[in-house]
Amino acid sequence: MPTSETTPREPLVPRLRGLGTSIFAEMSALALETGSINLGQGFPDVDGPDVIKQAVVDAIWAGRNQYPPGMGVPELRHAIADHQRRFYGIELDADTEVLVTAGATEAVAAAMLAMVDTGDEVIALEPYYDSYAATIAMARGVRVPVTLHAPDFALDVAALRAAVTERTRVILLNTPHNPTGAVLSRADLAAIAQVAVEHDLVVISDEVYEHLTFDGAVHVPIATLPGMADRTVTISSAGKTFSFTGWKVGWVTGSPELVTAVRTTKQFLTYVSAGPFQYAIAEALALPQHVYTDLRDRLQAQRDLLCAGLAELGLEVYVPRGTYFVTTDVRPLGWDDGLAFCRELPARCGVVAIPHQVFYDNTAVGRPLVRWAFCKQPDVLGDALARLREGRLAR
Ligand SMILES: Cc1ncc(COP(=O)(O)O)c(C=O)c1O
Repeated sequence: MPTSETTPREPLVPRLRGLGTSIFAEMSALALETGSINLGQGFPDVDGPDVIKQAVVDAIWAGRNQYPPGMGVPELRHAIADHQRRFYGIELDADTEVLVTAGATEAVAAAMLAMVDTGDEVIALEPYYDSYAATIAMARGVRVPVTLHAPDFALDVAALRAAVTERTRVILLNTPHNPTGAVLSRADLAAIAQVAVEHDLVVISDEVYEHLTFDGAVHVPIATLPGMADRTVTISSAGKTFSFTGWKVGWVTGSPELVTAVRTTKQFLTYVSAGPFQYAIAEALALPQHVYTDLRDRLQAQRDLLCAGLAELGLEVYVPRGTYFVTTDVRPLGWDDGLAFCRELPARCGVVAIPHQVFYDNTAVGRPLVRWAFCKQPDVLGDALARLREGRLAR
């Protein structure tokens, strides 16, 4: 019989324990405590174009403030379909093959909950974006890692093949890839497609960095490969492309069957979100090419600045071909553990970065790796580099 003396039961279910405090919360708290420059979290410190901001204000004043339709406002669904045709030649029915979500995060969660059952195996590229492990656990699935290795973090096709079992249900992809900055090649994607077709698997492809590729690297949606249109759930989001990460307008595209499955869970997670922002992103997606490329070019210059500075400091730098992030190996500076490095860095230098190892099951592989965000203004990156030069960076 419980009494007032009894310790209350642990409220969190066992499979979700350990997900409590993310590395981002820990490192952001450290940044605040120490007045550090935060190169941990992936959000830009300059907003996207004014014309897109104005579109939200206009939508609010036009009275578009009540629940949007469950699939998303038609203007945005059509804009997403037009975007997929314009950039990739993908033809979609905006009424049945496009679903608007609360960011890519909700899209991933809804897809997992819709398609993964107890004990089903989900193959994911490791290091993972952190919500993947959580949503696989929520769906009671089993995470099966395929590790991407430095220096180029290319796919190990043999490892992918070896990871497939009778219980495999989904391959969860992310390209361009956070945190490594790798952009999967067409050949790698073809190998994944072959495995998916052979074993009748669904591919969930998170492409939120689709427009943020550098040095001419080309993003290829796996849905464009033969046999993949009907077995790929493609996910993206406006946050990264247009530098409005706080707006949380994401989307899912795919066959009517796949989109309907995701909509089934999504409708009971949030039902709908962010009405006025949906109208603004509809306008944003239709903006001319230079809006996309200007944002990307600015980011590439920031990448170059940070990568060159980190290399000068003696870190091994794996120059990324996409995303907001660069990965380094800290061993040349005498460290063997990126987590210890990141925990000490704020006090030593006044800068925050993120250790890779928390994104791995095979933590030994990620142990010496550290991620730095370059989606910050050049003077902020310059200040961070100056602090790293002046502080005690070496062990
Ligand atoms: C790979 C990846 N997927 C999804 C997201 C989240 O996207 P959203 O803000 O649209 O939910 C992020 C954000 O960092 C990401 O890096």
